[in-house]
Amino acid sequence: MDARLKASNMDAPGIINGNRMPSEKTVEIIENVFAKFAGFKKSEPLRKKITRVIEGKSDIEIMEWINYMMTSHGDAELFTLAEDLTNHETFFFRDIIQLQCFEYEILPAIIKQKKKDNDRVIRIWSGACSTGEEAYSLAMIACKFMEANNLATISESGQVFFKDNWNLKIYGTDISRQVVAIARNGIYSDAGLSPFRSFPPQYYRFFDFLGKNEDRLYHQNSKNYGVKKGIKDLTTFECHNLNSKDLPLMLKGMDVIFLRNTMIYLDADSQAQILKKFHTALSKKAYLVLSVVDRMHVPELYSEVRLDKNIVYRKS
Ligand SMILES: C[S@@+](CC[C@H](N)C(=O)[O-])C[C@H]1O[C@@H](n2cnc3c(N)ncnc32)[C@H](O)[C@@H]1O
Repeated sequence: MDARLKASNMDAPGIINGNRMPSEKTVEIIENVFAKFAGFKKSEPLRKKITRVIEGKSDIEIMEWINYMMTSHGDAELFTLAEDLTNHETFFFRDIIQLQCFEYEILPAIIKQKKKDNDRVIRIWSGACSTGEEAYSLAMIACKFMEANNLATISESGQVFFKDNWNLKIYGTDISRQVVAIARNGIYSDAGLSPFRSFPPQYYRFFDFLGKNEDRLYHQNSKNYGVKKGIKDLTTFECHNLNSKDLPLMLKGMDVIFLRNTMIYLDADSQAQILKKFHTALSKKAYLVLSVVDRMHVPELYSEVRLDKNIVYRKS
């Protein structure tokens, strides 16, 4: 790797307000290593975050750490670094217009096609799921739709019973192990700028109320909710770096992939590689939903579909 660091290459760090500040060059080396790993764009905010991670550490410590990250065992360390360098902002039913397109246009089209193909398993992947809100929103929308269309019944306790061999599998993956653990847990608080900030009330039936946080100062008397077991059972959350070459078997044969509010952090080449990987992960003519601001870098692999209020892509 061209960014390989030797102790002698590191220029002198400065002292600001009593804190040892890493040199710009050191920060840039780490930025290069991480950008290559996760596909990130190089940027001032990224360098600031890196500076915060390493300030106060000695040159030797940093040097050994960087050299280790660049060995074949270094990925575990890079996944750990990703915890500090990624933005996990998310909430339930985010970008609702796109989710309405999913409910009213994409899902009916998928089910119609599956009936023709005699295939009864709907497979959905939230490609950078953060703490799970996107994946759970998709699961709840799909369950409600299948119930309304007589393909499933949902009991009072939230258990989902599919009819005629229908099934629903929702996969959520993220580069951060910490957010994946939160997603698996499926417990959310409505404190402050909460994941429930634009939550359609009819979907509270898919949650168990877990009680109030009595502490007014820190928790603002917030309430906790747990995703019901019936919905959790439909989901699988795993740590996965989209910018890696591998595509685990469980992520193949997808009917729709969502990758929203994530491409913005990635450089153009990595975006293109990820779109190619999704092409392999999608089943024939399956759908890809990106954020409205995202660019399709490999138009030869997808066709653009103009829905009522949104543009999505289909595997060509
Ligand atoms: C802003 S959140 C978006 C979450 C959700 N998709 C949404 O729209 O609300 C971006 C997520 O992308 C994840 N991420 C960034 N780079 C990634 C990569 N190379 N592979 C997998 N996940 C990545 C981050 O860890 C973060 O949780």
